[in-house]
Amino acid sequence: MTQVQPEAAVLQVQGLVTQFHTLDGTVHAVDGVDLTIHRGEIVGLVGESGCGKSVTALSILRLIDRPGRITEGQVLLDGRDLLALNESEMAGMRGNQISMIFQQPTTCLNYAHRVGAQIGEVFEVHQRLSRQEGEKRAIALMRDVGIPDPERRASAYPHELSGGMAQRVMIAMALACQPQVLLADEPTTALDVTIQAQILDLIRNLRAQTNTAVILITHDLGIVAEMCKRVYVMYAGQIVEQAGVVDLFERPLHPYTQGLLGAIPIFGRRRQRLLTIPGKVPRLIEVPKGCRFASRCRRRLECNMEICTTRPPELFEAEPGRWVRCWQYALESAV
Ligand SMILES: Nc1ncnc2c1ncn2[C@@H]1O[C@H](COP(=O)(O)OP(=O)(O)OP(=O)(O)O)[C@@H](O)[C@H]1O
Ligand SMILES: [Mg+2]
Repeated sequence: MTQVQPEAAVLQVQGLVTQFHTLDGTVHAVDGVDLTIHRGEIVGLVGESGCGKSVTALSILRLIDRPGRITEGQVLLDGRDLLALNESEMAGMRGNQISMIFQQPTTCLNYAHRVGAQIGEVFEVHQRLSRQEGEKRAIALMRDVGIPDPERRASAYPHELSGGMAQRVMIAMALACQPQVLLADEPTTALDVTIQAQILDLIRNLRAQTNTAVILITHDLGIVAEMCKRVYVMYAGQIVEQAGVVDLFERPLHPYTQGLLGAIPIFGRRRQRLLTIPGKVPRLIEVPKGCRFASRCRRRLECNMEICTTRPPELFEAEPGRWVRCWQYALESAV
């Protein structure tokens, strides 16, 4: 058997393009996204509402429905392209090698089955436990995710649970299979602070015990600072900056990231949300010709940079390990 490299990439997303074909036109929700996630790494994905975070995660799991379509790219899990699998092969990967905590919990629960049995089944399938053992583990996991009186709740159907409880059941299911990759889309936003801390601990433990890689989507910069090693910043369907978490917070390079983070020190502050930047995100139906952030970019105005509105910048390695989609850095390095 080959030895597992701690730094080996477990998930590589390359040139992912996902579009929605609507009556108004084509929505370019995800437009050429590249991500590399290593084993055991927790990576943040941040950006304003509507920038394409959820669509990216759903595309990785191939859960894009009409009018949406993944039109380009590769999603390599352990070198195997998920986009090239047939539907039954893909179904075998989902909730097994790769699982997701959804922003909308209702997406993944089966409303015809009791929740204890649903979680228990994950243990039965993945760890070959008996039904009885599976349900026992399910109840323990329900307790871990903060569900009070789990023995009783295990025999409830999803519709009998409150939204917060259903969210926790979904989290338990996503963790139970000990996936290689966990996509966590705003996993704790709907939950109170104590439960939130408990869930984040569970994600950390999962990483520590099974070397699971995690993509954590959140608006909460405190959570990013606390949990993530690296961060991708997304704007209008594209990655605009990628950096180690300390570098990003101490010295954001992209004017968009600078705007989101503001001048407030992040470390040590538990619940710092992204700031609001003046101006509007471009409609993803009519993407601008130049840089997508140009209309809101103070630096472009200050420096009177014409190229920003005429040519789209590529992601550019401004410093070793730091990538930024901004003409300023590309031009500086060319000088
Ligand atoms: N079913 C759909 N039909 C048409 N457009 C869609 C559909 N789903 C998503 N979009 C569009 O795709 C873009 C990206 O949406 P997405 O849900 O990924 O944003 P997000 O970054 O997750 O935002 P939030 O932080 O609010 O969760 C948005 O412009 C959205 O309107
Ligand atoms: Mg979302």
